[in-house]
Amino acid sequence: MESPSPRKRRYGSRIEQNSPKNAKTGDCHLEANSPPKRMPLSPNKFNIQDDRSNEIDSTIKKTISRNLFGGRRNENETNLSIVTPKKVRQKTDEILGKIKAALSLENPGEILGREKEAKEIKDFVTDAIKDEMGCSLYISGQPGTGKSATINNIIDQINFKKLKTQKVFINCMSVENSSTIYSNLLEKFAPEITVPKTVRWQKSKFSQFITSDDSPMNVLILDEMDQLSSRNEKVLYDLFELAASSNSRMILIGIANGLDLLERVLPNLPKSCKPNQMNFQPYTFQQISTLIKARLTPEMNTKLEPMAIMMCAKKIAAMAGDARKALDVLRRATEIAGRDKSEKVKISHVNEVLNQTYTDRSGAELPFHQQLAIISFIKLAKEVRKRS
Ligand SMILES: Nc1ncnc2c1ncn2[C@@H]1O[C@H](COP(=O)(O)OP(=O)(O)O)[C@@H](O)[C@H]1O
Ligand SMILES: [Mg+2]
Repeated sequence: MESPSPRKRRYGSRIEQNSPKNAKTGDCHLEANSPPKRMPLSPNKFNIQDDRSNEIDSTIKKTISRNLFGGRRNENETNLSIVTPKKVRQKTDEILGKIKAALSLENPGEILGREKEAKEIKDFVTDAIKDEMGCSLYISGQPGTGKSATINNIIDQINFKKLKTQKVFINCMSVENSSTIYSNLLEKFAPEITVPKTVRWQKSKFSQFITSDDSPMNVLILDEMDQLSSRNEKVLYDLFELAASSNSRMILIGIANGLDLLERVLPNLPKSCKPNQMNFQPYTFQQISTLIKARLTPEMNTKLEPMAIMMCAKKIAAMAGDARKALDVLRRATEIAGRDKSEKVKISHVNEVLNQTYTDRSGAELPFHQQLAIISFIKLAKEVRKRS
């Protein structure tokens, strides 16, 4: 049997003590000779009243507290949706934080707008592996046009192990001295070979390894290749020649920002050694807005005005078609929105960042072809003036 609740127990004991009737016997306990007392409102009644009023008070208090702070009524009840502005602010800040994370440069996710280029590079690499033929590809394009992101994505997709192929990715920014490149390559491609002491022998050993029938196929990706060229152009000549040599088992992919790297840095490269070329065009307005929107969840979209995305994509496409800059502008606009306690990232926040950062009208932000066109016009104008 259930034990009585504290209140019931209390009532029960009071009834036993104070009631004119004994609850058990039904006898009256009136004192002899004393006039029958008019039973006052029994104190327990007051008590009961008091208890109830306390109870009501506390119930009301709890309800008010629940409404204000979103507490739970009991296990089965859900939170009330009435929240204070502080809570709303916290939620907004939380979503703005998520937007910033989604717009970060790391983990770009699906690479949109580069499907054609990605397919061509993938086919180039896999065909060369199957044909067991050394070759080279030079990928150029303005900064932020997705060269590194695309190539990294392709590397992840190709099952090199299955193709019995080795791959090495080197960002040439991290190569301190270009003469160390051969020891670096030997260590990565052929760790079983003892690296000779002199650069000349290192180069010779690497050539031997790359042209040996016993070697597997090797894919070498040199990102920011122009960094290597500015220090020692000979290394780049050698590597392109090695990739093109007979029996070569190296597929060399060089990536650089300069459109004219081959003409400027490798003018004397024999025609037979010239790499295949691919240029990554600046992103268009549609491509930039697509790659931004792809990163946003519906929740994030509630805090990011479509016009803000549009303005960012339009301005960046007109300047350089640089995805890195577009993401950077929107990320910083999100920061400003948070700082201003704004409910949404608005067009004004994007404009603020653009005005702070990209007000330079020197033309340095223009795509390469547009810069060339402007220079040509200036030259032409000067010549016309000279003649007249
Ligand atoms: N197509 C794309 N889809 C998604 N993110 C992209 C895309 N292109 C570029 N990005 C983003 O922009 C950043 C810069 O691109 P990146 O490939 O490094 O440019 P590049 O190598 O041409 O200078 C990347 O880290 C990535 O986050
Ligand atoms: Mg890059």
